[in-house]
Amino acid sequence: MRFDTIIRNGTVATASDTFVCDIGIRDGRIAALSTELEDADEVIDATGLFVLPGGIDSHVHLDQPSGDGIVMADDFDSGTRSAAIGGNSTVLAFCMQEKGQTLREALKVYHEKAQGKCHVDVAFHLVITDPTPEVLGQELPALVEDGYTSLKVFMTYEGLRLRDDQILDTLDAARRTGALVMVHCENEDAIRYLIGRHEEEGKFAPKYHATTRPIPAEREATHRALSLAEIVDVPIVIVHVSNREAMEEIRRARQRGQKIAGETCPQYLMLTADDLDRDALEGAKYVCSPPPRDKASQDACWEGLEQNVFDLFSSDHCPFRYEDVHGKLNEKGKRHFRWIPNGIPGVATRLPILFSEGVMKGRITLNQFVAQTATNHAKLYGLYPRKGTICVGADADLALWDPNRQVTITNDILAHGSDYTPYQGVEVRGWPVRLFVRGNSVMESGAMVEEAPSGHYLSRQRSSLVSKPA
Ligand code: URP
Ligand code: ZN
Ligand code: ZN
Ligand code: ZN
Repeated sequence: MRFDTIIRNGTVATASDTFVCDIGIRDGRIAALSTELEDADEVIDATGLFVLPGGIDSHVHLDQPSGDGIVMADDFDSGTRSAAIGGNSTVLAFCMQEKGQTLREALKVYHEKAQGKCHVDVAFHLVITDPTPEVLGQELPALVEDGYTSLKVFMTYEGLRLRDDQILDTLDAARRTGALVMVHCENEDAIRYLIGRHEEEGKFAPKYHATTRPIPAEREATHRALSLAEIVDVPIVIVHVSNREAMEEIRRARQRGQKIAGETCPQYLMLTADDLDRDALEGAKYVCSPPPRDKASQDACWEGLEQNVFDLFSSDHCPFRYEDVHGKLNEKGKRHFRWIPNGIPGVATRLPILFSEGVMKGRITLNQFVAQTATNHAKLYGLYPRKGTICVGADADLALWDPNRQVTITNDILAHGSDYTPYQGVEVRGWPVRLFVRGNSVMESGAMVEEAPSGHYLSRQRSSLVSKPA
């Protein structure tokens, strides 16, 4: 057989195995795994490199409106470019339903935003903010059939949060259709109460974002979401877990027999609430929800990864420009933390941080790394085995990693639209040096090879957590 490309002699790792072999690519797919493959248009020597499934980042916010005239720092062009620089071949972005909008209308808007702009493959989660009987009863079943098989609900944020009865209705619709629900777990009423108390006490600095969103507000909501899912009898994903108490809720629910997935993110391993207290409003750069906690919480999130309590390690990339956050566009944010948009950039740094801090420091295995950054995302969100693994027939989405490349993270190498990275100056060992998406060489040595966006939209199957619709 003649191949388009052979990647020769790399150390290939999947979620289960590590082995040295050649990979033959033909027509965008992996056509052979063997030793001593010959005969290709291009042969790439991967001796001394790891060849991993391209990263799948299943929690990425791109080009969403944020109110007050502040726009997200990444559209689908810059956001997916940054994803590629960081070794990702697929991202799952959010399609935000506005109140009163149908899901189809929302999807039309986001497909237009993404059309012709994506440098890696892309799919959408639906964010349900208006769970009317029509949306849940008529639209959702058809959309799940059309390949939109996951959705997110919020328990916090004015205007986005759902009440418990609405969450139950949404979970029930998911049970009927076989959709997978992701839940943002923080108790909005408790947060509002605490914001009121902070206002009485004249506490307005960025650091108070963290103290108005304490661990019990996350733990309670996590427990409630899991309980509601248990009552409805439907799987859920608890996203962006920041601390031990929420993590233990997941562990306990699983021990009870619930089918659930847990996710944590780099910010909960690398940052703490102290970062929100940096000088002169610098703390605004670290405002995200749930907020980063403390050293003990970091250790707990590591434990959750080591012990596979977390299936998913995602970026929750939600980029803003510091200039906008505290520049002329947002005078309000300077006066009160509640007007600082929530979210930090991280789609390019997710993989190098976990590789360096996790694999190179011996906390997780290379195979866990692959599972938590690619394979589990593909399985849970209905892309497996086309995506997320290295096997014959899969898309040739491959990241070549140099485990010895030492990099100091600086904002200028990340290709995102933010004017900062929360990980400025962090030194990592191991870096993705080359990326293939469906066999196309997309990124090499930190630069895009192909400037023309060649990403595809991905229609998805149902989640591996959802056996079949009831
Ligand atoms: O602060 C965050 N995480 N912003 C992004 C939106 C979300 O809740 O995931
Ligand atoms: Zn969230
Ligand atoms: Zn998010
Ligand atoms: Zn194409």
